[in-house]
Amino acid sequence: MTETMIAVIGGSGIYEIDGLEDARWQAVESPWGTPSDEILTGRLDGVNMAFLPRHGRGHVHSPTTVPYRANIDALKRLGATDVISVSACGSFREEYAPGHFVVVDDFIDRTFAREKSFFGSGCVAHVSVAHPTCPRLGDACYTAAKDAGITIHKGGTYLAMEGPQFSSMAESKMYRAWGCDVIGMTNMPEAKLAREAELCYASIAMVTDYDSWHPDHGAVEITEIIATLTGNADKGREMVRRLPALLGEDRAPCPHGCDRALEFAIMTAPD
Ligand code: ADE
Repeated sequence: MTETMIAVIGGSGIYEIDGLEDARWQAVESPWGTPSDEILTGRLDGVNMAFLPRHGRGHVHSPTTVPYRANIDALKRLGATDVISVSACGSFREEYAPGHFVVVDDFIDRTFAREKSFFGSGCVAHVSVAHPTCPRLGDACYTAAKDAGITIHKGGTYLAMEGPQFSSMAESKMYRAWGCDVIGMTNMPEAKLAREAELCYASIAMVTDYDSWHPDHGAVEITEIIATLTGNADKGREMVRRLPALLGEDRAPCPHGCDRALEFAIMTAPD
């Protein structure tokens, strides 16, 4: 059995965990650079918790400049076993309305200006991201959100775009035709790096807008996004509040193998 540590990477709108005991912000060093911010640690219902504001307190990192490798590595060094990403997204589906949450379970990665792997120089590894999120963790988030009275949808493909500009209408229509459900700027390469670090990863996307495809809605405006996020922040924190009771203090090996992702992935012979 391994001691559980639930790490929450909060996007715009979520900057803390309610009810955390022994809470303290700690600076964590990583050879991959400086994480987005210090990491808040503590215990909730007897379970170790960590919280990292993805953009930094004060929102100083853009989606492109978030130090994704340092963030995942720092959480791993602290002892994280489970990473839950909470982020804003646009919706490509009428029924995934602003204010709703989505348990993302797949991605199309269209980012192009970010470091995407811990491997490559000196040690080559190819992990599978055929199933990029952990169903066990996603199910726990779904239950926690439902119990908190949140409207949440199970399953969705997230188009990760580079940004920082929002999509054109033609792009938005194309992503919709591809079968994508939501769009955001931050879940990649985060999900890929979590897999390389053998961490379970779940993504909860909070719908803030209909991107630019919807005939009855205008262009995406950041003011609209912030207003929806502010309205949702309590809900997001309430979902997190319920996770320790569902995930427990100790955990068995991941039934989906997230914590053994490197077992057969490393190509380079040991020295
Ligand atoms: N984050 C929130 N809404 C978004 C959108 N429409 N496109 C990309 N990222 C977003």
